[in-house]
Amino acid sequence: MEKEIETLKNLQEIPGVIKVKDSFKINVSEIEVNFAIMELFEHGDLAKFLKSKDASKMTIEQKKEFTKQLLNIFVGVHKNKHIHRDVKKQNILIGKENDKFRPVLIDFETCVLESEKESHKDTVSTLEYWPLEYINAYLNGFNEYTNTELKKSNENENINLYIYNDNKKTDKIDEKKKMEHINNHIANATSQAMDIWSLGLVFFEFVYGQDLIKKVLKFDINSTNDIEQCNSLKNVLETKLNTFLLAMDPTNKNTPEDWTDIKGKINANDESEKLWNLIIKPMLNNDPESRPTAEALMSQFNF
Ligand SMILES: Nc1ncnc2c1ncn2[C@@H]1O[C@H](COP(=O)(O)OP(=O)(O)O)[C@@H](O)[C@H]1O
Ligand SMILES: [Mg+2]
Repeated sequence: MEKEIETLKNLQEIPGVIKVKDSFKINVSEIEVNFAIMELFEHGDLAKFLKSKDASKMTIEQKKEFTKQLLNIFVGVHKNKHIHRDVKKQNILIGKENDKFRPVLIDFETCVLESEKESHKDTVSTLEYWPLEYINAYLNGFNEYTNTELKKSNENENINLYIYNDNKKTDKIDEKKKMEHINNHIANATSQAMDIWSLGLVFFEFVYGQDLIKKVLKFDINSTNDIEQCNSLKNVLETKLNTFLLAMDPTNKNTPEDWTDIKGKINANDESEKLWNLIIKPMLNNDPESRPTAEALMSQFNF
């Protein structure tokens, strides 16, 4: 919390970053507790807002304006050399100004300076918003762990067998050692391009009304095993996503039936099609090097 407040104080000038009105520490039976006072947003977060009548009444022009404002917050955060690392609908609040909704970015707990990402190697929380490079880093870290630490303690056993197949034996995995290996890998996969990916997913649901990963691409998050979940999401991103991106092209006539509805929404009108082609689709590139920066995307917003 202390670090979060410090980060927030460095980003207060950026329009759309939540304002800290006051912060203080109180000692509660020898334990120091940090408090921050912030404005209360009555419309709540974007997850809640998307289920409301207000959201369903928004026109494509209003959605475009909101999307642009949200992107602009990231132009500011990234210019200030930060990576938010936990971009999702629950971390975007809805404000209202002159009868217009506006986005407010919150939850800077995982936010780091680009230059300090090595010293903050903890994983960010929400798997379904992870880009492919981050999933791969997690899996590579895990493989490194199975190849070194587990081998050391189980020279004569078949490692793959008990990791994936035998529930009783999975408790042999030392979570702390596992995370040490994983953390080294994910620090390298952490970049501002990761925020762009997650923001692309938020834009998709906000503009077209459906959760891309869980609903459209049917990623099933049922498993409680993080490695199984990562492998399953990796598969969705490496295969289904590409098929989906191709299928959304209006000239492509082979659209699977359960995608015709969303395709209709994407190509509903000029504005919605441009939002897809110029903004959202480029953000959903599996290659982080090819994902546009927030600033580059902003320059595309002149339609
Ligand atoms: N200023 C606020 N006004 C209204 N709702 C808020 C505010 N701050 C947080 N929330 C709600 O509380 C939830 C959790 O807050 P957050 O800062 O993201 O903490 P956490 O680290 O627990 O995710 C948000 O998703 C949002 O629904
Ligand atoms: Mg949060």
